[in-house]
Amino acid sequence: MSLSEKDKAIVKALWAKISPTADQLGCEALSRMFLVFPQTKTYFSHWPDLSPGSNSVKAHGKKVMEGIGEAVNNIDDLFGAMSNLSELHAFKLRVDPANFKILSHNVLVVIAKTFPKDFTAEAHLSLEKFFARVALALSDKYR
Ligand code: HEM
Repeated sequence: MSLSEKDKAIVKALWAKISPTADQLGCEALSRMFLVFPQTKTYFSHWPDLSPGSNSVKAHGKKVMEGIGEAVNNIDDLFGAMSNLSELHAFKLRVDPANFKILSHNVLVVIAKTFPKDFTAEAHLSLEKFFARVALALSDKYR
C-alpha cells in the first residue's frame, strides 16, 4: 500500500508535534513491547536490565525513534533511507521481520495514548500505512 501525498503530510505534521517527546515515547513503546510481547526480549538478552524504563530501554527507545524520524524525513525514499538498518537487522541482528510490525504497533499505541486529540481516525490510517511501509522497507534486505 503506497502513501498518498495526504498521508505523507499527515505523518509529517504529527511527527513534528511528537518529536520533542520522541525519547520518552520510544522508551514507553519498548517497555510495552517487552511486557505485552515477551518473545521480543530474546533479541536483547545481552542487556543488563530489560525492565520498563531501564537505562538500556531508554537509550534504545531513543535510537529506534531516531530511526523512525529518519524514515519520516525521507518519506519519499523510505527504502533508501532504511537500507542500512534493514541490512543490520537482517544479517547482523537476525531479527525475524514479523517483529517490525509488533514494535510499530507499540509505537502507534503510545502515540495514540500520549496525543489523543491528534490521533484522529485519519491520522490513525496514515500512520498505519506509514508503519506498514517502514516495516516493509526494514524487511527489504532479507533475501
Ligand atoms: C538496533 C531501529 C525494530 C532489534 C537498532 C538501531 C536502530 C534500530 C536505529 C541501532 C543501530 C545502530 O546502533 O547502528 C529500529 C527500527 C525498528 C526496529 C526503526 C522498527 C520500527 C526492531 C525489532 C527488534 C529489533 C522489532 C527485535 C524485536 C534490535 C536489536 C538491536 C537494534 C537487538 C541492537 C541493540 C543493541 O545495541 O544492543 N534498531 N529497530 N529492532 N534493533 Fe532495531
